Amino acid sequence: MALEFRNVVKRFATNGGAELTAIDGLSFTVNEGEFVSVVGPSGCGKSTLLSMTAGLYQPTEGQVLVSGKPVVGPNEHVGFMLQKDLLLPWRNILSNIEFGLESRGVDKAERRRRAEAELKHCHLEGFGAHYPYQLSGGMRQRAALARTLAIDPEIILLDEPFSALDAQTKLLLQNSFAKLIAEAGKTTLLITHELAESVLMSDRILVMSERPGTIVAEIKVDLPHRDEPLKRRMMPEVPELAAQIFHHLKLEEKVI
Ligand SMILES: Nc1ncnc2c1ncn2[C@@H]1O[C@H](COP(=O)(O)OP(=O)(O)O)[C@@H](O)[C@H]1O
Ligand SMILES: [Mg+2]
Repeated sequence: MALEFRNVVKRFATNGGAELTAIDGLSFTVNEGEFVSVVGPSGCGKSTLLSMTAGLYQPTEGQVLVSGKPVVGPNEHVGFMLQKDLLLPWRNILSNIEFGLESRGVDKAERRRRAEAELKHCHLEGFGAHYPYQLSGGMRQRAALARTLAIDPEIILLDEPFSALDAQTKLLLQNSFAKLIAEAGKTTLLITHELAESVLMSDRILVMSERPGTIVAEIKVDLPHRDEPLKRRMMPEVPELAAQIFHHLKLEEKVI
C-alpha cells in the first residue's frame, strides 16, 4: 500500500478558541502506481488531506501511513504540487527543477544530471535557461511537475494543478501530466473540483462529504487510456461516471 488513512480526524483551533473539525473518520488506501482523485465541496478538507499526506499537518486522531510507515513530518517520499506553480522567479527553469534536490543534499553534478533528464522528459528541452516569466502558464506547470518528479517521490500530490488555466491549455496539460506520471509509474493523489477531470485522469475517485469531510462514495473508473485523457474523453462512459459523482455530491440539497 502506497498510502493509507486510518480513521483520520483533523481539528483546527479557530480564532475564537473553539475547535473546527475539518475531517472526521477518514479512511482509504491508495495502491502503488494508482491514480486516485478526490472530489468534494469547497472547505471539506481536501487540501488538509494532502497536507497531512505531505507531513505538513499531523492528524488529531488516527494515522496517515506512506509505504506502511506513519508520516511524522515533511519527507522526501512525497512530492507536492499546488495550483500556483511556485517556481522561484529569480532562478531559471533548470535551476528551479534542481531546487528540491538541493535541499535534499544531492551533489551538484547529480542534481544537474537529474534536472536535465527531467527537463527532457517533460518536453522542456531548450527552456532550461529561460526564466519562469518567459514561459506560458501550461509550461510553468510542466516545469513544476518536472521539479516534483526530479526528487523521485513515492507519491505525487496535486492540488488543483489545472484550475488556473484556460480550457484548451487545461486539456493539453491534463494529457501531458497523465502521460508523464504514467511513464514515471508514480502513485498519485489529485484534488480537483472538476468531475470530468477526475474521470479522465483516474483509476478511482473518492467523493467527500461537506465538512467535516469524510468519504461518501468511491467510484472505480474501469476505462482504458488512463495515460491519455484526450482519448478517454471521447468515451460515452465518461459523462455517465461524472453524473454518478454529481449525484453523490447532493448539490440539490444545498443552498448558498
Ligand atoms: N491551518 C488551518 N487553521 C484553521 N483552519 C483551517 C486550517 N486549514 C484549513 N482550515 C479549515 O479546514 C476546513 C478545510 O479546509 P481545506 O482543507 O482547505 O478545504 P478544501 O481544500 O476542501 O476546500 C476549512 O473550513 C478551513 O477553513
Ligand atoms: Mg483546497
